[in-house]
Amino acid sequence: MKVVNVDVPSASYPINIGQGRLDHLDMAIPSDATSVVIVTNPKVAGLYLSRVKVSLQKTGLPIFVIELPDGEIYKSWESLNKIFDILLINKIDRQSVLLALGGGVIGDITGFAASVYMRGIRFIQVPTTLLAQVDSSVGGKTAINHPLGKNMIGSFYQPNSVEVDVDVLDTLDLREVSAGLSEVIKYGLILDSNFWEWCENNIQDLLSLKKSSIEYAIKRSCELKAYVVGKDEKESGLRAILNLGHTFGHAIESGLGYGKWLHGEAVGCGLIQAIVLSSLVFDLDKTVLNRVKLLVSKIGCPVIAPDFGFDKWIDLMLVDKKNTQGNIRFVLIDRIGHALIKQVSENEIRTTLEKTIK
Ligand code: NAD
Ligand code: GLY
Repeated sequence: MKVVNVDVPSASYPINIGQGRLDHLDMAIPSDATSVVIVTNPKVAGLYLSRVKVSLQKTGLPIFVIELPDGEIYKSWESLNKIFDILLINKIDRQSVLLALGGGVIGDITGFAASVYMRGIRFIQVPTTLLAQVDSSVGGKTAINHPLGKNMIGSFYQPNSVEVDVDVLDTLDLREVSAGLSEVIKYGLILDSNFWEWCENNIQDLLSLKKSSIEYAIKRSCELKAYVVGKDEKESGLRAILNLGHTFGHAIESGLGYGKWLHGEAVGCGLIQAIVLSSLVFDLDKTVLNRVKLLVSKIGCPVIAPDFGFDKWIDLMLVDKKNTQGNIRFVLIDRIGHALIKQVSENEIRTTLEKTIK
């Protein structure tokens, strides 16, 4: 098992990464816990709930299960209330632990529920998608969606631990693997040129989920994310670099209607757009754009952005949380492995869109 530690002002906790972690979840439960409440969805439950229960039963604690419907639209007030209803009906006390078993949707809503139930109870992330294992389960961002904006209601609240079982990726749809890989390669672009090159050289092994390769990619991604959130837990500066490609990506998701492209697919395309923009703003090595396009296409994400027209693109990008006073700020790179946040001119955005849309 590999361990990556996250140290932020509000907490310190491990990310435990390995094969077969689901069978050892009892080890993650604090000794003073009074019960464990698993939050999951029917798809993940069908695949893994019985194994998780067997593992947790070793603690001897009462175990409860809350199943929410599968899908981004259920990251909502209604689902949050359903969690609270079940917690209250079962008299779940403050010493209990919530356990999020699922992808980013389950992780985000469970974390938010944990952060406000009885003013905060402990929770454990058991991420089961690649995206959740390398990104959403780490760093303490929790949220639900509001009809007027994705992730607009939430909190910063760190888990007690993150338990990553790489074996669960075997049941994931290939599209979900591609979507997770776009976040993996993003870490190389913003922080670590060696890791970027390693991804270029090992992309086939990553796509086929070769255990040693995917485990290394998850560990390195978590280390890089832990480094960033350790320096800036609540995103007052540096943490925003984790959003390379996301200003474009969020616009694509919302412009097409959520669910048409997966979040990670939109981010993959957004990475290309961010590099085109970076090339206009900085003297970026001419080969970088082609390398990024090639890797994004190899991982199976779209490489051509949808054509919403300039005005709609701008409107969609203005909703981004990085923006201040109506100005759009972008994460850019001036070389592979080094990111910066910058406001750019309307002309540069226009040229980027012309070069990247159909
Ligand atoms: P998801 O949670 O919807 O999972 C994708 C699909 O995979 C679902 O149908 C799910 O049931 C299924 N699934 C999960 N694990 C599986 C497995 N092992 N085998 C087979 N199927 C499995 O989507 P996601 O991509 O994991 O997460 C997206 C969410 O994460 C979004 O809501 C996004 O806003 C959020 N997010 C949060 C952060 C953060 O920092 N908190 C960062 C990135 C994304
Ligand atoms: N996913 C971006 C962040 O955690 O800040």
